[in-house]
Formats: sequence, structure tokens, C-alpha cells
Amino acid sequence: MKDLLMFFVHFILLSLILTVSGDEIVYGQLSETVVLPCTFNPNSNEIIIHWQRSNGQSSDIIVHSYYHSKDHLEKQNVTYQNRTSLFYSDFPKGNASLELRHLRLEDEGVYKCYMGKEYNVNLKIISFKNFSLNRQNTTTRLECAAWDVHLLPSITWSDASGIINETNRTEVKTDRLMSVISEINITNSSQVYQCQIHNSVPNLNWTGIWNMTDPLNKVEGDEAVLQCDIPHSLNVKNIRVTWSVAGKKPFACVDNISEMLENSRFSWVSVNNHQTNASIILKNLKISDSEDYVCNISSHDYMQLRVTSLTVAKVTTDKMENRYRYEFISLPIIAAICIGIGIGIYCFRRTRKGMNGNNQSSDSTEMDQLNS
Ligand SMILES: *[C@@H]1O[C@H](CO)[C@@H](O)[C@H](O)[C@H]1NC(C)=O
Ligand SMILES: *[C@@H]1O[C@H](CO)[C@@H](O)[C@H](O)[C@H]1NC(C)=O
Ligand SMILES: *[C@@H]1O[C@H](CO)[C@@H](O)[C@H](O)[C@H]1NC(C)=O
Ligand SMILES: *[C@@H]1O[C@H](CO)[C@@H](O)[C@H](O)[C@H]1NC(C)=O
Ligand SMILES: *[C@@H]1O[C@H](CO)[C@@H](O)[C@H](O)[C@H]1NC(C)=O
Ligand SMILES: *[C@@H]1O[C@H](CO)[C@@H](O)[C@H](O)[C@H]1NC(C)=O
Ligand SMILES: *[C@@H]1O[C@H](CO)[C@@H](O)[C@H](O)[C@H]1NC(C)=O
Ligand SMILES: *[C@@H]1O[C@H](CO)[C@@H](O)[C@H](O)[C@H]1NC(C)=O
Ligand SMILES: *[C@@H]1O[C@H](CO)[C@@H](O)[C@H](O)[C@H]1NC(C)=O
Ligand SMILES: *[C@@H]1O[C@H](CO)[C@@H](O)[C@H](O)[C@H]1NC(C)=O
Ligand SMILES: *[C@@H]1O[C@H](CO)[C@@H](O)[C@H](O)[C@H]1NC(C)=O
Ligand SMILES: *[C@@H]1O[C@H](CO)[C@@H](O)[C@H](O)[C@H]1NC(C)=O
Repeated sequence: MKDLLMFFVHFILLSLILTVSGDEIVYGQLSETVVLPCTFNPNSNEIIIHWQRSNGQSSDIIVHSYYHSKDHLEKQNVTYQNRTSLFYSDFPKGNASLELRHLRLEDEGVYKCYMGKEYNVNLKIISFKNFSLNRQNTTTRLECAAWDVHLLPSITWSDASGIINETNRTEVKTDRLMSVISEINITNSSQVYQCQIHNSVPNLNWTGIWNMTDPLNKVEGDEAVLQCDIPHSLNVKNIRVTWSVAGKKPFACVDNISEMLENSRFSWVSVNNHQTNASIILKNLKISDSEDYVCNISSHDYMQLRVTSLTVAKVTTDKMENRYRYEFISLPIIAAICIGIGIGIYCFRRTRKGMNGNNQSSDSTEMDQLNS
């Protein structure tokens, strides 16, 4: 009750001395964390911080309150529960900034920080994470897209020889946000293609890379190593790797908290260190394993699609040919060895006979041993 009274007293006082400063615009990424800035005079004797959000109606939404040296979240709107905190150790520096986590699109709006002075912070949410580099058809088209952005970013395609022009662009507008999809035709599948998305406000970049590795040719029953090493340049902590057959749901994935491997014929090459080597081994190959395998390495600002084309051939013709070739080579060798041994024995017996004609019995035992 006393707290509630305090709240209203402060509220009225603050409302009287309130001076509205210009809105500061802060951008936050969907599902990430943002810091809404606010400062106060660190020399004040008691710290009272109220973060509220205008509702478009008479009463504001309570986002976070602090007084009597602790948080008071009894009146906090449930949509902000467990998502807010202040920088308590920075209070002596006059820092009243609010940390808001797991951002949602609905969080967009004007936030007010009451600190003897009213600060307005205009929070805009961008969904910058949702980019995709899609292969529309196995060899023909690559798609690079930025979904749900406030301003259209620039999209640049390049290959080893430099910038290439997009072949198609689609722009979609929803009531608040925009999306853009840029496409190119792949003219050379052994080329590495890169898509760079650049957003000026806020300054953010995203890179997508398409990399087709050398095709693998195997026969039934063999095993194949599908290579996927993680580039050193990436921030190792937040990488996610998924393996899939082109156009299907992933059958394997790994990130820093979990891993999944659906098929018992698959295994990781590196048992512990998936964050640097996510290659997998496929055992007991079948004809039906002939597919394009896509290793998708991604972080918040990067995606590389590493594509390996696997072809599994029938075992019979190949193995038979091998056996015939083996026999063809080995028969004369075996014959030569037999003839050699025969001549050796003949000479040996002749010498022994010539030197010691009496010792017939021991000679025959030796002969038996040689024959066996
Ligand atoms: C307050 O502190 C946090 C964490 O150290 C920092 O990110 C933020 O920029 C600070 N804000 C101000 C206004 O100093
Ligand atoms: C809580 O906030 C939401 C908007 O984020 C609003 O629609 C709702 O009315 C608020 N609830 C209360 C009890 O103020
Ligand atoms: C906030 O956290 C508490 C304790 O962990 C939990 O009981 C509550 O359901 C959470 N609220 C929301 C809205 O997630
Ligand atoms: C991106 O967002 C759009 C629309 O919100 C959705 O349809 C699509 O599945 C998303 N793509 C990815 C890769 O998350
Ligand atoms: C995909 O490409 C193949 C040739 O590479 C073509 O025959 C087929 O029609 C294409 N499919 C679509 C949906 O464009
Ligand atoms: C790309 O487009 C620009 C102008 O639209 C043109 O001048 C240039 O020649 C094109 N480049 C290629 C490689 O087609
Ligand atoms: C460009 O993309 C749109 C939407 O997918 C499609 O309707 C259109 O036919 C495409 N144009 C070309 C030249 O491929
Ligand atoms: C790109 O490929 C589509 C079919 O997949 C074709 O219709 C179009 O003309 C190609 N564009 C260029 C610039 O090669
Ligand atoms: C395809 O790309 C590879 C690698 O960059 C290059 O060596 C080869 O000459 C290219 N082929 C054609 C037909 O452009
Ligand atoms: C994004 O790329 C542009 C141009 O390549 C560069 O000027 C800018 O600094 C980059 N931004 C970030 C956050 O790396
Ligand atoms: C493309 O893949 C090869 C391995 O197949 C790798 O060595 C190379 O670094 C990759 N290219 C890029 C640009 O990451
Ligand atoms: C990976 O770990 C970092 C902290 O080490 C965490 O912030 C991040 O959310 C984790 N990423 C995933 C995809 O779980």
C-alpha cells in the first residue's frame, strides 16, 4: 500500500516537472535483446526509475519500476514479465537504461523513462534474421531475401569474377513492413556465389554463400564422407549447422546446445567438435541415396550452403570386373610360383641323391613336408 502511494506521489511529482525531450530511435532485432537508453543525475539521494510505454489511451503500460532500492514489478504488464532488467551496478554512474529481451513485433512503440525528466525512446523492431538463400531448382536459381524490414536493404550478388546482376526482384509490402526477394540464375555450378545484404539504418550486413563441392561417385555398400568444415572466420559460438537432402526437412542438425541425427546409417566425422567440422559419414550406401546433400552453416549474419552431389552406382558390374581383373593378373603368377617350386624340389632331390645315396627314408619325409 505504501509502495503504491509512493508510486503515485512520484508519478504526480514527475508529471509536474516533466520536460519532453526529442524521441531517440532505437532499433531492435526480433527475438534478440535491446537496451533502451536513459540517464539520471547520480547525486540524487534516492533512485526511482519508472519505465512505461504509451498505450495510445489515457493510461500507460507499466514496463518496469524500481524504488526503495529494489524492483517493483507487481504492476508490470504481463507481456513484459521476465523480459526486463536494469543495470543495477551502473546506477552509481547514472545509468537507468532498460534491457528488454526476446523482442516481439508488438514491442514496437514509444517508451518513457521517468527520472526527474522524461526521456522518450522510440523502439523499432526489425526482423533482420529472416533471410534465406534458397535454391529453387537444383541447378538453376538462387534466392536471397530480406523479410519484414522497415527500409529496403541493398542486395548485391557476386561470384569469383565480381559483381553480377540479379535476374529477378520481387518486393512485397505489408501494412508496416516490407520484404524483398532477389534471384540469380546459376550459370556455372562450380562457381561460388555470394549474396550480400546491406542495411544502412541500422548498419547491418548479412552474407549468403552458395558453394557446390566436387561430386561424389560411389557404389552400393560403400561409405561416403560428406564434407562440411566450418570456416574459421565465423564466430564459432553461435553457429547452427543443418544437413538436408535438397528441398527436404533436415535429417541432422547441431548448434551449441543440441544435436540431432535422424538416420542410423549416418554418423558425425568429428565426435566432439561439430563447431569446426560438421562433416558426416553415410554407411552402407544404397542407390536411393543418390541425392544433392546440403550442409547449411548459419549464424545471425551468415549462411553458407555447401552442396555435395552424391551418385551411388549398382555394385555388380564394377565388383565383377574387379574380380576378373584380379584372376587375370594372379593366375600366371601362381603358375610361375608352382613351376619354380617344382624345379627347386627336383634340383634339391638331385643334389641330395648325388651327395648321399643311403639316406632314402629321411629324404622321403622331407618330400612329404614339402608337398603338404
Ligand atoms: C548502461 O549500461 C549498459 C550496460 O553496461 C550499457 O549497455 C548502456 O549503454 C549504458 N547506458 C547509458 C546511457 O550509459
Ligand atoms: C498490457 O500490454 C498490452 C500491450 O502490450 C495491452 O494490450 C494490455 O491491455 C496491457 N494490459 C494491461 C492490464 O494494462
Ligand atoms: C516468469 O518466470 C516465472 C518463474 O520462472 C514463471 O513462473 C512465469 O510463468 C514466467 N512468466 C512468463 C510470462 O513467462
Ligand atoms: C521468413 O518470414 C516469412 C514471412 O514472415 C516466412 O513466410 C518465411 O518462412 C520465413 N523464412 C525463414 C527462412 O525463416
Ligand atoms: C528444374 O531444372 C530442370 C533442368 O535442370 C528442368 O527440367 C525443370 O523443369 C526445372 N523445374 C522447375 C520447377 O523449374
Ligand atoms: C548489369 O546491369 C547494368 C545496368 O543495369 C549494366 O550496365 C551492366 O552491363 C550489367 N552487367 C552485366 C554483367 O550484365
Ligand atoms: C520474377 O518473380 C516473380 C515472382 O516470383 C514471377 O512472377 C516472375 O515471373 C519472375 N520474372 C522472371 C523474369 O523470372
Ligand atoms: C533465368 O532462368 C529462367 C528459367 O529458369 C529463364 O526464364 C530466364 O530467362 C533466365 N534469365 C537469365 C537472365 O538468364
Ligand atoms: C566455372 O567456374 C570455375 C571456377 O570458378 C572455372 O574454373 C570455370 O572455368 C568456369 N566455367 C565456365 C564455363 O565459365
Ligand atoms: C556492412 O558493409 C558495408 C559495405 O560493405 C560497410 O560499409 C559497413 O560498415 C558494414 N557494416 C557492418 C556492421 O559491418
Ligand atoms: C567452398 O567449399 C570448399 C570446400 O569444398 C572450401 O574449401 C571453401 O573455402 C568454400 N568457399 C567459401 C567461400 O567458403
Ligand atoms: C550459444 O551460446 C551463447 C552463449 O555462449 C548463447 O548466447 C546463444 O544463444 C547460444 N546459441 C544458440 C543457438 O543456442
